[in-house]
Amino acid sequence: MSLDKFISTLDQLEKDALDSFESAADADAVEETRVRFLGAKKGALKDVQKMMGGIDPSDRKAAGMRLNAFKTKLQESFEASQSRLGGGEASGIDPTFDATLPGIRPNVGHIHPITQTINHLMEIMGRMGFEAAEGPEVEDPWHNFVALNIPEDHPARDPLDNFYLATASATQAGSEGSQLLRSQTSTVQIRVMEQHQPPIRVISLGRVYRPDAPDATHYPMFHQMEGLYVDKHVTMANLKTVLRVFATNYLGGDVQIRFRPSFFPFTEPSVEVDFLWNDTWIEFGGAGMVDPAVFEAVGYDPEKVSGFAFGLGVERLCMRRHGITDIRDLYSGDLRFLRQF
Ligand code: DAH
Repeated sequence: MSLDKFISTLDQLEKDALDSFESAADADAVEETRVRFLGAKKGALKDVQKMMGGIDPSDRKAAGMRLNAFKTKLQESFEASQSRLGGGEASGIDPTFDATLPGIRPNVGHIHPITQTINHLMEIMGRMGFEAAEGPEVEDPWHNFVALNIPEDHPARDPLDNFYLATASATQAGSEGSQLLRSQTSTVQIRVMEQHQPPIRVISLGRVYRPDAPDATHYPMFHQMEGLYVDKHVTMANLKTVLRVFATNYLGGDVQIRFRPSFFPFTEPSVEVDFLWNDTWIEFGGAGMVDPAVFEAVGYDPEKVSGFAFGLGVERLCMRRHGITDIRDLYSGDLRFLRQF
């Protein structure tokens, strides 16, 4: 192809392209023109570049210069038409931004199933007049053991069964022993009674710690719901009614409950509490009538007041209600699990 022919072809194309950009009435028309002339696949520019191959080598330089001018012209005309129509970068809108693409969803969290359960339990017990009370997770032996009628030589105080905190020396910690992560929420019974006179109707929901190896039903940290009711003439019938109303509300349906004789140092008599679930009796915790020794420890007169107490496993309740079979799932931090609740 001769240089003259090449140049006249470009002249014509350039005129067509500029006319087309200048007369484009909207962004679609501009885009259509851009594709027709500058498009990477089938644009006229592509054909022109191919034509360069047929130019006599001595004319290549002149042809190249014309081609560059052609490209610049078209590019300028394209941009001018964009700003004329108020689109493109001139308007401050990034032309590569596609407003129709789905956005980036903010990662909104939600309340952990155990916290949800705690809120639910507080709500149910609140309707029966039980107020929520709290106590510290780092406890002294008085509240975790002594006031609960658990003497120094009791196996529940074994270092292998508790997370004792290291202290400078055993003597410094006092004859009662060193502080520990509480192993039960029964500690809060003592704290509440030390500060309030009967009648008392409280629950306490919180973490407890025991050095158990994790498996499907054990974890070194778990939660309990403690209940305490102290007044005149409180009986085991009251205890059973409260637990039955609670179980029925939490698990749904009319849940049967069963007491089995047991022993806890801080209750007399003591029972294990089972709920009937899918034709199986499942143990949810312990309960009983507050032991006179406990009343004496907090300065109550056991001749004048009586009360019941109970302690239920929160994970166990949550797992039964939701059909969770492994307690470790609750604490794995795996969002695929947690998002289900
Ligand atoms: N503290 C007991 C435990 O952790 C549970 C318990 C049993 C709590 C009987 C009570 C009770 O208040 O009366 O195993």
